Amino acid sequence: MVQAIDASQQSLALRRAIDRQIDGVSLAELRSSSDRLSAAYRDRGPGDSPPFATPHDRLAYLAARLPSTFEATRAVLGELRRRAPGLSAESLLELGAGPAPGLWAAEQHFPELARAAHVESDAGMAEMGRRLLEAGHFDAHVESTWFLRDVGRTRGVGEHDLVLVGYVLGELGESVRDELVDTAWDLTLGALVIVEPGTPAGAARVIRARARLLERGAVVAAPCPHGNACPLASDDWCHFGARVNRSSLQRRLKRGSLGYEDEKFSYVAVTRGNADPCAARVLRRPRGEPRRVSLRLCTADGLREELVTRREGERYRAARKLGWGDGWAPTTDEIGDRNDCPRVDLEGA
Ligand SMILES: C[S@@+](CC[C@H](N)C(=O)[O-])C[C@H]1O[C@@H](n2cnc3c(N)ncnc32)[C@H](O)[C@@H]1O
Repeated sequence: MVQAIDASQQSLALRRAIDRQIDGVSLAELRSSSDRLSAAYRDRGPGDSPPFATPHDRLAYLAARLPSTFEATRAVLGELRRRAPGLSAESLLELGAGPAPGLWAAEQHFPELARAAHVESDAGMAEMGRRLLEAGHFDAHVESTWFLRDVGRTRGVGEHDLVLVGYVLGELGESVRDELVDTAWDLTLGALVIVEPGTPAGAARVIRARARLLERGAVVAAPCPHGNACPLASDDWCHFGARVNRSSLQRRLKRGSLGYEDEKFSYVAVTRGNADPCAARVLRRPRGEPRRVSLRLCTADGLREELVTRREGERYRAARKLGWGDGWAPTTDEIGDRNDCPRVDLEGA
């Protein structure tokens, strides 16, 4: 067991480990793989095989996507930790692990982690994941096991305290997806987390998985403050944003000049009990107006808009600090003794 580590140090450690893998590869080669990957992810159908055709494709995933999936996953696991404070995760299972960002992401919030299993069908990706973990010195405190196989074949993988299905459902056909959600839940001792891109299609996959898990007795820890059907209309979708500082390589790969990007993601974290969901979830970036803050919230009673004015003193000051995706307490009356929704800060996580 190790002590929790600083978030920015960890992002830096991952970045350095990625840079070491990429060292010596030409920018032109990486860029053409990155462009090809983006197009493949955009155009391929569910169930198409993973788009990594060459070693450069995998390196391009590391350079262009891994920092973002890592930050989104880390933000989600941070929120799970807050909403399920009694959860102890000594073991982690990543299904469709890719280069294992889940373990990097879990390390900060679950320093008690001692074992991790990664199921991944692409041998090259698994090898890169291994090398990254080695560079991060995970072997000093986490026993990590790779299973080179399809996510449907989980015999011998075992049950784990924390199970993560990160950015994988969209790679699978619908029926396989449902099977994976069921299998993941069967292997979950404490909490199961599903993360998808924050697109309408990604959010729809999360909602379908959530409904399936609720039917099987799962308790939603985040982001929903309830276990009811999602109240968002069909033209809207539940998603959040995680701030990702771009390296100069990422900027060049993406032909962008900004020093950061916001990774949009949808997620659900469910537990086998002992969850303490927020009373309300902030669904949009709060609008700060003179002497008031306007909030769009999801609550157990459905969606609501709330205006917090300066006359509310402490509450107004708290509302001014709120970010998109944070937990919030709608009114003092409603929350009773649940007025403990802390700031989540997914954007800055
Ligand atoms: C988009 S990547 C996500 C990787 C990682 N979880 C992350 O968050 O960055 C999806 C990964 O799932 C793997 N994958 C896709 N279908 C799979 C399957 N049927 N069985 C095992 N792995 C699969 C791919 O090879 C790829 O590494």
